[in-house]
Amino acid sequence: MKKITIAIDGFSSTGKSTLAKQLAQHLGYVYVDTGAMYRAVTLFAMQNGYISADYFDKETLINGLPFIKLHFEFNSDLGFAEVFLNDVNVEKEIRTIEVSNFVSKIAEVSEVRSKLVEQQQAMGEGKGIVMDGRDIGTVVFPQAELKIFMTASPETRARRRYDELQGKGENVSYEAVLKNVEERDYIDTHRDDSPLRKADDAIEIDNSNLSRDEQFEQVLALVNRVTKSM
Ligand code: DC
Repeated sequence: MKKITIAIDGFSSTGKSTLAKQLAQHLGYVYVDTGAMYRAVTLFAMQNGYISADYFDKETLINGLPFIKLHFEFNSDLGFAEVFLNDVNVEKEIRTIEVSNFVSKIAEVSEVRSKLVEQQQAMGEGKGIVMDGRDIGTVVFPQAELKIFMTASPETRARRRYDELQGKGENVSYEAVLKNVEERDYIDTHRDDSPLRKADDAIEIDNSNLSRDEQFEQVLALVNRVTKSM
C-alpha cells in the first residue's frame, strides 16, 4: 500500500492528537505533534526569562533560536514519540496551563514558525506521516494527500482539556480552561503568519457528538479511499 501524508489541523483540544496517534499506530506511520514543538520553544523562553505574564523579549528569543534543538523519541510504553528540548525530555512540562497560556504568543513569531516548519517538512520527506497542528494542510504540507480539519464547540473542548488536566492532578478551574481555549482560538485564527484556517481541500469533522472510535472509523475510511485511488 502506498504511503501518504495525513495533515490534521483544527482548534485546540479537538482531539487531533488522539486521532493522529490512532491512525499512526494502525497504519504504521510516524506521528508528529507540532503543538509539542511550539510548546517546547515556549518552555525554553520561560526557562530563560524571555516571557512572563507582562513581558516578552521577542528579539532575544529570536537570537536564541539556533540554541534550541528539538527532537522526538518513540516511547513504546506510551505508544507515541516524546519531545526533547536540548536532549531533555520535556513531554510533561510542556502540558501545563502556564505553557498553554504563553504558547500562542510564541507561535505568532515568524522566525519561530519558519524554523519549526522547516524541521517538520524534513520529517515528512519519506511520507507515511500523520502530523497535527494548525498550519499543516495550509503551510507545512499543502500537497498532503489527505487533510482533515477538526472542530468542536469551545465548551466541549474546555471540558475535555479540564478532565485531562484534573487527571494529571493539575489544580485548575473549568472557567480558567475555557478562557484559555477561547483566547487561543482567537489568537490562532487572527495571527498574521499562518493563521489557523481550513485548507480549501480539507475535510471538516465536527466531533462534538462523535465517539473516539466513530471518528477513527470515519477517517480511516477516508485514508483507504485515498490510498486505493493512487
Ligand atoms: O496543539 P496544541 O494545543 O498543543 O498547540 C499549542 C499551541 O501551538 C497552539 O495554541 C497554537 C500553536 N501551534 C501552531 O501555531 N502551529 C502548529 N502547527 C501547532 C501548534
